This record gives sequence, structure tokens and C-alpha cells, in this order.
Amino acid sequence: MKPETKAIHRGRSQAAEVAPLTTPIYESTTFVFDSAADVEAHAEGRSARYLYSRYENPTVEAVEGVVAELEGAESARLFASGMAATVTTLAGLLKAGDEVVCCAAIYGGTLRLLTDLLSKFGVRVRLVDLEAFGRPADVLRDETRLLWFESPINPTLRCLDIEAIGAACRARGVTSVIDNTFASPINQAPLARGVDLAMHSATKYLNGHSDVTGGAVAGGTDLMSAVGATRRLMGTILDPRAAYALGRGLKTLAVRIGRHNANALAVAQFLESDRRVRRVYYPGLASHPDHAIAVRQMRGFGGIVCLDLEGGLSRAAAFFDRLQLFVRAASLGGVESLCSLPVLTSHHGLSAEALQRAGVSAGMARLSVGLEAPEDLVADLDRALG
Ligand SMILES: Cc1ncc(COP(=O)(O)O)c(C=O)c1O
Repeated sequence: MKPETKAIHRGRSQAAEVAPLTTPIYESTTFVFDSAADVEAHAEGRSARYLYSRYENPTVEAVEGVVAELEGAESARLFASGMAATVTTLAGLLKAGDEVVCCAAIYGGTLRLLTDLLSKFGVRVRLVDLEAFGRPADVLRDETRLLWFESPINPTLRCLDIEAIGAACRARGVTSVIDNTFASPINQAPLARGVDLAMHSATKYLNGHSDVTGGAVAGGTDLMSAVGATRRLMGTILDPRAAYALGRGLKTLAVRIGRHNANALAVAQFLESDRRVRRVYYPGLASHPDHAIAVRQMRGFGGIVCLDLEGGLSRAAAFFDRLQLFVRAASLGGVESLCSLPVLTSHHGLSAEALQRAGVSAGMARLSVGLEAPEDLVADLDRALG
């Protein structure tokens, strides 16, 4: 079955006595047992009954099944946010003394989590420039336990060779994790290319309606069992109401992503043809430095486009302030088009050197291209460019 079919049918309830079409919101913190023997059977793993919603919840589990199917994974877990997914995964798989290798061009929250928080618990973090990932085997050392990367990367949409990274990590016994948020599982299948775990800020495309904060991780049963056990301890599971809304969003993921891809390409082509724009970053354009990698590993190029304007922050801010249809807001991946200025949001407070390493300039504006008519979006950008 195709992803759009799986997204609609995999989450349906199996409860024969009521046979609802959709899986209801099981808003119960705890679940009822008939007898001590019943509890014992659960404790010994001989019964599938639920015990407590911080551990597992039927609504959450149904949506986890959808995410696992879409990522082509044996198993998936949902979390209260993308950051909850990241910290639970790292806490579950690492111990003091382990080294994490992370691409220096990465979501700022992930970067700070690694450098400011995990380092307090004895995990060593080594940031590696994007260019070094051209030879991924060379970025790994004997003490490396886990490698974390993104592709495409915010906001330049630079892409890393997923298959090469997955193979290098497997050869050295290093766990590889990709943040697959920007691509979504419709555009990119990292597990099929040899990466161990795919993580998402489900807040973005997976939910797609800017009204749920959530996270997801998908992968093989062994790694996911460790992540799941840590989630029980940390209490980072997604709430059943949020899981229900996320499940509803997922049913239209493939349809939405198809339109995001088409709209973003139309916007990128318009901006590239306009002399008022210094540079456009979109992996679907032949001018993008990683276009060849993107063509090889992506089924569509996603909904994010970044433009760079001559004149630094004041010029980017003037463009930003003139927008009428694109909404001035952080985040991405929803039905409505948004614009943000990376130096004021995702990369705020970074040193000049860190900005340079991330490829971020003051004249950049990042567009999350939504599902509106492309003509209306282009007209708004045309007007805002002045
Ligand atoms: C690529 C990426 N990864 C992870 C996160 C963190 O996700 P959340 O905000 O859902 O915690 C974000 C949030 O902006 C993101 O853009």
C-alpha cells in the first residue's frame, strides 16, 4: 500500500464490540484489571492490556503505528515535543563518557541540548562542519557512540548524503539518528537508506495544522525499546488528545506534502528569476549546492524556501514587515505560509563564527510555504520585495 493509504487505515481501532471508524481519545490515566492473575499476566508480558498512560496509551499507540508505517520502521514512539523526543532518545542510548558527533549546522535547540545539558552528565559532544560529512567515515572515532544530523538543514536546506552516513556508522557500530522534520517521511525514507533512527518535530509537517506540539522517533525494535523504557522514566509521552489531533493530521500528510512541494518550487522559481533577490536556497533548484544529493535521496524537495537579500537585516526586516499573506511567525510545516528571520529566531544569539558555520546571514528570510494558491503567494512576495 502507498503511504497515503496506510496513513488513513493503519490507525483504525480494533475494538470489535464498538467498532468505531476512528480510534477514540482514551482519556484515562489508568486501566482496569479483573484479577491478580490478570495483573500478573500483564507484568509478565502475557497480555496486551494497558496499565498506565505515562507508559502506553491506546490512542497514542494507534498513532505510533501510523508513524512507524510511514517511516518503514518496526516501531515508533510519540513525545510531548520534538525536544522531548530528542532528549529522551539521547538519554536512552548514551551514558557518561560516550561521544556524540553532531553536524555543526543543526537546529539551535538540539545544539544547545547537546552542548549545554548533556555535557553536564558526562556525554562528550563533538561538532563537525558540514563539509566534513563529504567523507563520513572520517568524522567517526573509536569513542563515538552516536551520530546526529539533519537533512535538509535549516535554513540553507543543505543536504547530507544519508546513505553514505548510514553505511559509515554501521561499519563502526555507531548509532545514526537523522532529524527528518524538514523532509517528512513522504519526501524522504532515511531508514531504508541505512540510518538507525528517524526523529521528527511532529509539531511541523506530521501534524501540519500549527495546533499540536509533539515529537516522534521511529526505528528498529531494539533501539526503540531502550527509548521507550526511558520515556516511561522521564514521562515525556504525548498526551492522548494531542495524539488524536496528530493522527487526524497524518491522514492528509501525503496530500499536504505534495502541495507543499509544488507551491515551494513555484515560489523558489519566482524568487530565483527576480533580480531583487541575491540568492535562493531550495534543494529542488539546480543552483542549490546539494541538488544532486537531493535528487538522489528525496521524492520531493519540501515546503521550505530561504532567500537572501542584499543589505543585511534592515533589508530583510523591511521585506518581512511588508508581507500581507505570509504570516510573521516562527515554526513551519502548517497549512498557512509563514516567514521568519533566522538571525532573530532559530539562530538568535549565536556568535558570528557559529552563524558562519551554519551558513546563516543577516539578510536571510525563511519561508514555510503553505497550501494557499501559489499565485497569491508569489504576488505577496513580489509586493513585499518592494
Ligand atoms: C528541525 C527541528 N528539529 C527539532 C525541533 C524541535 O521541535 P519542537 O519545537 O517540537 O520541540 C525543531 C523546532 O523548531 C526543528 O525545526
